Amino acid sequence: MTISHCASLVLAAGKGTRMHSSKPKVLHTLLGTPMLAYVLKALEPIFENEIFIVAGHKAELLKKEFEDRKFILQKEQLGTGHALMTAFPELSEQKIENLLVINGDTPLVSTEALSKFLEDAKGADIAFTTLQLSDPASYGRVIRSNDQIIAIVEAKDYSESKYGTATGEVNGGIYYMKLSAIRELLPLLTNTNKSGEFYITDLIGLAIKKKLDVRGIACGSDPALFGINSPRELAEMENIIRRKICHRFLDRGVTIHYPDQVVIGPLAGIEPGVEISGPCEIYGATNIAKGAVIDSNCVIIDSDIAPGAHIHHFSFLDRAKVGEKAEVGPYARLRPGAVLEPESHVGNFVELKKARLGCGSKANHLSYLGDCEIGPHVNIGAGTITCNYDGKNKFKTEIGANAFIGSNSSLVAPVSIGRDALIGAGSVITENVEPDGLAIARQRQVNLKRKKH
Ligand code: UD1
Ligand code: CA
Repeated sequence: MTISHCASLVLAAGKGTRMHSSKPKVLHTLLGTPMLAYVLKALEPIFENEIFIVAGHKAELLKKEFEDRKFILQKEQLGTGHALMTAFPELSEQKIENLLVINGDTPLVSTEALSKFLEDAKGADIAFTTLQLSDPASYGRVIRSNDQIIAIVEAKDYSESKYGTATGEVNGGIYYMKLSAIRELLPLLTNTNKSGEFYITDLIGLAIKKKLDVRGIACGSDPALFGINSPRELAEMENIIRRKICHRFLDRGVTIHYPDQVVIGPLAGIEPGVEISGPCEIYGATNIAKGAVIDSNCVIIDSDIAPGAHIHHFSFLDRAKVGEKAEVGPYARLRPGAVLEPESHVGNFVELKKARLGCGSKANHLSYLGDCEIGPHVNIGAGTITCNYDGKNKFKTEIGANAFIGSNSSLVAPVSIGRDALIGAGSVITENVEPDGLAIARQRQVNLKRKKH
């Protein structure tokens, strides 16, 4: 960090009225990850723990999602200037001297762009990013006189008759400020404008009147600095980020078929040599190791996939671990806590939850395996169900190495099947089975003569 005792403040208290949603705007997701997480990820390498978030509208939802963060509560959302006024006492108390303020709805911002901005802002009393847009839309307009910045005027308060023809130069919503400089300016903010809000942007005009060092730092027309205010802007930004992430993995040596139909979240790690076919969605902290193959129409969330594993078409994985050279699907569902040891197979319409399937074991057709430990080289016949729930509590099933569970068996937990045991097809197993045992729990077949009518 090149600037002394600098912290960052993320403005995230607004309702996001233009999103027409009950959820705070910064919790809206792009590629499965909340908008605010992107901003925090960009800030972290520079500010580490010195990141404060102003929360207000449904603050409890933000605190729940980002529980280790430092929050400052803006009870009433009276504008971006008011958010800063609310945070100021806490920041002063923390002896913070310099501050980077950023709108929480700018998810594509990068650490590099922020570092460059701070470098350019060094020594200023207040600095802010400017963008040059063909359509200034709802952005605050930068007003100049003889080339010198004199103020930012918000879109609602702007009129060409008053301020001249719009130049397309707008406020990018990232600010650097010395706390000593804004201390005297904050009490001068008013809400006498079209929105009836206290604008952070009014600090610019006030600072210039006080002859402080104010800098607008040009950042071109980079969409990475665009804010998100509406579902449409969110969709556009999501697509920009999606494409960027896919291209990054392609450049690193990940094979992606139909990349326009592949969604990879920002936290995913995918090694070179992985092969992915679209359409397909990979979210959260998913890691996929080299040589793994992901066929089309899979959804993978927060899962680990080891080298050489193959996830066949239409499989759904959530918080699962898939071992080396394991096979999953087509049409498999791995729920949280599913662990597949190396070279195990899970086939179509098989559901696993909190279940470990040992090395080389197979559950290839139509099964539910919940709350169970299955040893190596076990065969789970088609239609096997672990009956893990009695309506109140969950119980565990254990199956030892090399056991063979005949098709259409129900294993009523708690129950343990010993190693090398054999369960006859169609059994309802309610008692433990010894190692090397044979258990058949079904009625014997009766063959009679058919009555003729
Ligand atoms: C703001 C700027 C505008 C700039 C644009 C860039 C103001 C007044 N205007 O407009 O000049 O061009 O960003 O993207 O700042 N927030 C709070 N508390 C509040 C109100 C808002 O924390 O009381 C937060 C919001 O959650 C949001 C951020 O501040 O993350 C910006 O608010 P938003 O309403 O999106 O401002 P814009 O109209 O986009
Ligand atoms: Ca905005």
